[in-house]
Amino acid sequence: MYTFREFLNKLRETGDLVEVDDLVSLDLEIPHILRELCYRRGPAVVFTNVRESPFKVVGNLFCSKRRIVLATDGTDPAERIRNFLRETPLLTCTGGLKRLVKSLGDLAKLGRLVPRVVSSGSVHEREYGDLGLSKLPAVRQWPKEPSRFFTMGITFVGSEDNLNFGYYRLQLVDDRRFIVHWMPWRRSRDIAELGREEVDIAVVFGADPITMLMASVPIPPPLSKVLVTSILRGEGLRLVRGREADVLYPADAELVIEARVKLRELMLEGPFGDHLGYYSPVGRYPVAETLAVYGRRDPLVPVTVTGKPVLEDGYMVLFGERVVLPLLQQIAPEVVDLHIVPESAAYMTVVSVRKKYPGQAKRVMFLLWALAPVINKIVIVVDPDIDVRDLGQVMYAVATHVEPKRDLVIVPDYATEELDPSTPTPGFGSKLGIDATRKLPEEYMGKEYPEEAVPDPETVKRVTDLINKILRLYRREETCS
Ligand SMILES: Cc1cc2nc3c(=O)[nH]c(=O)nc-3n(C[C@H](O)[C@H](O)[C@H](O)COP(=O)(O)O)c2cc1C
Repeated sequence: MYTFREFLNKLRETGDLVEVDDLVSLDLEIPHILRELCYRRGPAVVFTNVRESPFKVVGNLFCSKRRIVLATDGTDPAERIRNFLRETPLLTCTGGLKRLVKSLGDLAKLGRLVPRVVSSGSVHEREYGDLGLSKLPAVRQWPKEPSRFFTMGITFVGSEDNLNFGYYRLQLVDDRRFIVHWMPWRRSRDIAELGREEVDIAVVFGADPITMLMASVPIPPPLSKVLVTSILRGEGLRLVRGREADVLYPADAELVIEARVKLRELMLEGPFGDHLGYYSPVGRYPVAETLAVYGRRDPLVPVTVTGKPVLEDGYMVLFGERVVLPLLQQIAPEVVDLHIVPESAAYMTVVSVRKKYPGQAKRVMFLLWALAPVINKIVIVVDPDIDVRDLGQVMYAVATHVEPKRDLVIVPDYATEELDPSTPTPGFGSKLGIDATRKLPEEYMGKEYPEEAVPDPETVKRVTDLINKILRLYRREETCS
């Protein structure tokens, strides 16, 4: 597992990070550069000369599939979680009573994953109390945005019992105050609103890459995002207690803003250009008051930008789907694979299932809508022979196996994301499920589904060499001409 700085070094080593000292502004310029670089498959960038801030800014850290793989040092998150669940059936009881008893001896393994609260960390190297929020790397991405805002600060809320974290847009109001845009359905918002008037938070910039990626992944209760992050890290988070705020956060981050959110003091937030490339609706969200700012002596502050997909948030989804898959399989073993389509900013999910009983594809749709209500607006269910990442194959399955009258499920009046431009009532819309699986007899008026035309194996054996020879000849001619 890399620290933030080790990850940057790794990107430097692999040629995936470029440093520039040209003077650039956080107001529109850096966002435009980052978007264009991401669309054009460019590198991550460190800007050393930023007009509004004394700090270096780094962007597009996760802006390619390759960089997502580098962030986890090549480990597939799904495999890591599966190994953990195999080794510690205590959590799932899937191994039966015998395994369960044996696994009591493995409790030590779980101990390794418990977050450690330490007394100090590099995030407390310096206090930046007088600097003012406008000197920190907040961006304005699009011309009609009302002010600059923090885009890649991870908001931590809670303490030992119920710590959670995620990315929530933070709009600058003045040098001490900002608005916290945690939308309905966000777990951090539920934790924050536990019958209180105010709650302390920490906005953390530059945690280790796994924590940064996990900040974008919704983990439904009763699972803990902190535990899942620890499983992926191979060790518990190293946390410090806020000096002014009652909250825990990573000890080795680059920069932190400790703040107090006044839950009943609401201000108009937005509009901001969002994940699908439209301005978000203006809404009323709570205001936070800065209590303290700490950081390393020479902090490097990550920023991200949103706009028409696929930008960094879309690539982060590729990490998220590998985290969600093994957890979903715990409650729906029929799920074979899952793909959250980056071009859809997580509004469209393709899932393959091994069906055993009629109506099972629909069960999986409803499970996804129940677990993650505001995403997965459109769920397409396919058979296991369809590669969920190959949208050509998915379209084939839709075209071939969908009988619209029978296979489309529309759930009206369902929770949706406020940012979804398709509905005129932000936060309230509908869902579409497309069952593109082959139908079982019970789903097909008692008849067997038509037989697929497949080649005769003997013929295949006889002519394969000839096919390869023809292709070799063709490619040689292609290179010559
Ligand atoms: C770049 C980026 C910006 C985001 N901005 C917001 C935001 O402004 N408000 C929000 O509620 N969610 C936002 N999200 C989504 C949440 O961070 C994400 O759903 C997270 O898993 C929520 O965690 P929670 O449900 O555990 O609170 C953003 C995600 C990314 C990647």
